[in-house]
Amino acid sequence: MVRFITFEGCDGTGKSTQLRLLADYLGARGKSCVLTREPGGTPLGQHIRQVLLEVGDQPIGSPTELFLYLADRAQHVQEIIIPALEQEKIVLCDRHTDSTMAYQGYGRGIDLELLRRLNEMASQGVRPDLTFLLDCPVSIGLSRTAERQARAAGVNAEDRFEKEKLDFHEKVRQGFLNLARAEPGRISIIGAAASVQEVFAAIKTIIDKKLE
Ligand code: TYD
Repeated sequence: MVRFITFEGCDGTGKSTQLRLLADYLGARGKSCVLTREPGGTPLGQHIRQVLLEVGDQPIGSPTELFLYLADRAQHVQEIIIPALEQEKIVLCDRHTDSTMAYQGYGRGIDLELLRRLNEMASQGVRPDLTFLLDCPVSIGLSRTAERQARAAGVNAEDRFEKEKLDFHEKVRQGFLNLARAEPGRISIIGAAASVQEVFAAIKTIIDKKLE
């Protein structure tokens, strides 16, 4: 039985939208879902998220960043994920351990085996049953993110886009794809350049099979 489902992928691949669509779909079939995310799925995690996403131009070391994501995860698994699974709910989580492997491992170059062990500790060995990896070319994801941020801040999307480091995000994307190739039974790669409805149709096909 599929209980713990994660959505992974580079920035701007539409994870949050697809997670909500899946929650509606499952809800309409009488399944009780908990929607959550990392970082920021708990009150403590909200503080950590704010620190991580609002450091602005201040330099943040890779280990510092890693420990913040792990601290957020440890609290999240303890406070939200384990209790929800114990209540037989379906947990839909926007980012989890694979993000650490892709961003801090493949992206920042931290040893992958070390990250596996730290993830195991932070998640108390609780692993997703199913992961949707939303994948599209980095340029598409980044321009979607830049447009969203620009709309929110009322600034020009181009300025934001120029600052992004394409090569970093390319490494992250390839990292996610490597993870998916290593665990094809758990991780399904979903083409995310298509329309919202087309992407959801692909997700629905997989979930229908798993829930049969
Ligand atoms: P998120 O809010 O999901 O960003 P977006 O909506 O743009 O996808 O995640 C915030 C950022 O945190 C995102 O750039 C990925 C990064 N991240 C890591 O680097 N490592 C991690 O372990 C996690 C969970 C997120």
